[in-house]
Amino acid sequence: MVAYKSKMVERISLPSRDQRERALEAAGYNVFNLDAESVFVDLLTDSGTGAMSDAQWAALIRGDEAYAGSRSFDRLESAVADVMGFDHIVPAHQGRGAENVLYGSMLSAGDVALNNTHFDTTRAHVANQNADPVDCPVPDAHDPDADAPFKGNLSLERARSIVDEVGAERVPLVIQTVTNNSAAGQPVSVANTRRVREFADEIDATFVIDACRFAENAYFVTQREAEFASATVAEVAREQLGYADAVVMSGKKDGLANVGGFVATDDESLFEQCKQRAILYEGFPTYGGMAGRDVAALAVGLREAVEESYLEDRIASVRDLGSRLAEVGIPVYTPTSGHAVYLDAGAAFPHIPDDEFPGQALVCELYREGGVRGVELGSFAFPETDRPELVRLAVPRRTYHREHFDHVVETAAAVLEDRRDVAGFEIVSNPSMPELRHFTACLEPSPA
Ligand code: F0G
Repeated sequence: MVAYKSKMVERISLPSRDQRERALEAAGYNVFNLDAESVFVDLLTDSGTGAMSDAQWAALIRGDEAYAGSRSFDRLESAVADVMGFDHIVPAHQGRGAENVLYGSMLSAGDVALNNTHFDTTRAHVANQNADPVDCPVPDAHDPDADAPFKGNLSLERARSIVDEVGAERVPLVIQTVTNNSAAGQPVSVANTRRVREFADEIDATFVIDACRFAENAYFVTQREAEFASATVAEVAREQLGYADAVVMSGKKDGLANVGGFVATDDESLFEQCKQRAILYEGFPTYGGMAGRDVAALAVGLREAVEESYLEDRIASVRDLGSRLAEVGIPVYTPTSGHAVYLDAGAAFPHIPDDEFPGQALVCELYREGGVRGVELGSFAFPETDRPELVRLAVPRRTYHREHFDHVVETAAAVLEDRRDVAGFEIVSNPSMPELRHFTACLEPSPA
């Protein structure tokens, strides 16, 4: 059931087909290069793009900009203690800043970090310490059609085999990303989190949860894990995060804020290490790169993120978009995640080989047809991997309504109807770091 009404609006408009065509060409067929003004429904990311509540705006106005010891920091500290269960926090400007603080404090050259799946920035921060990020997804994580409740889980079998191979002393860190964004946003069960805790103890490793979407994950647990059928989302969130030694958080997701992040822990020595590194890279540890007003808005957003009515509305609207796209014949990754619908572009465009980027072709067609912006997460974003050719339509929180989704469904249906005419792409300019190429590379349609 809808949980909001609007009291502030932002004008959007759909540029003409001709304008869209020209904008796409000028962007080098890379939608990261489009002006947001030329996008009608922007599903590029759910990160920092949501609408804040009136309570968040009110808190923002009263934000305390003191360099040290600000009142807004106290509010964030107590929100994290209440919602996530940790006593110490080190704020950062956003999630990747918190990753730098935490992983930079913990990892050394030659270490191995295990994760259900490393998000791009997580992988890059682990690699930046000359450590080795190794993914341990469960086998059906990359199967768009497998029907299982927790395809985001970490495979203990794979994690054990890596430890057997490299030796436990090289694995100081095990991470669980909830939900598992790089595996189609699939949730992680509390049972799996408990097993990962035991495993981390066995090998004497620190257990970190990447909690970006912890509230959405907790909602799925209440729906799909029998033990928690009568628990509240808030109870599940505290239980699940409570198994970790530390969490790393982007306030731009389940903090319902436009910016911000933090590390939270009860481990005194890890806290001290993170604080020192934060001063170097983020700011004094009571603001950490955020303005006081942003800290204040995040403190309120964290509490709102575990409200049942908010989550019911959010998860239902994403699920609804997924099932309506499937109804008009678009191959959709199932089950739908909490923050995005992932489309299977390989199945939608079987005539386009993977090395001509069927996902990028679908992204461009969605923009050309209806001004809808999604993002490719297949061979273009992840060169040299055998992931499926997915396109993510990420849903900003509390922002779009049914009419916007009607437009997305109509657009996708029209693209599918003309699929035979859709060509693949080749890359014409490549940035120096291949793992970041999808942000800036330019493409051209493949010759017919
Ligand atoms: N971890 C996960 C699982 C993420 O999804 C993200 C960001 C980060 C860390 C980094 O957080 O952006 O605040 O620095 N994901 C965004 C996305 C960018 O579009 O999925 P950040």
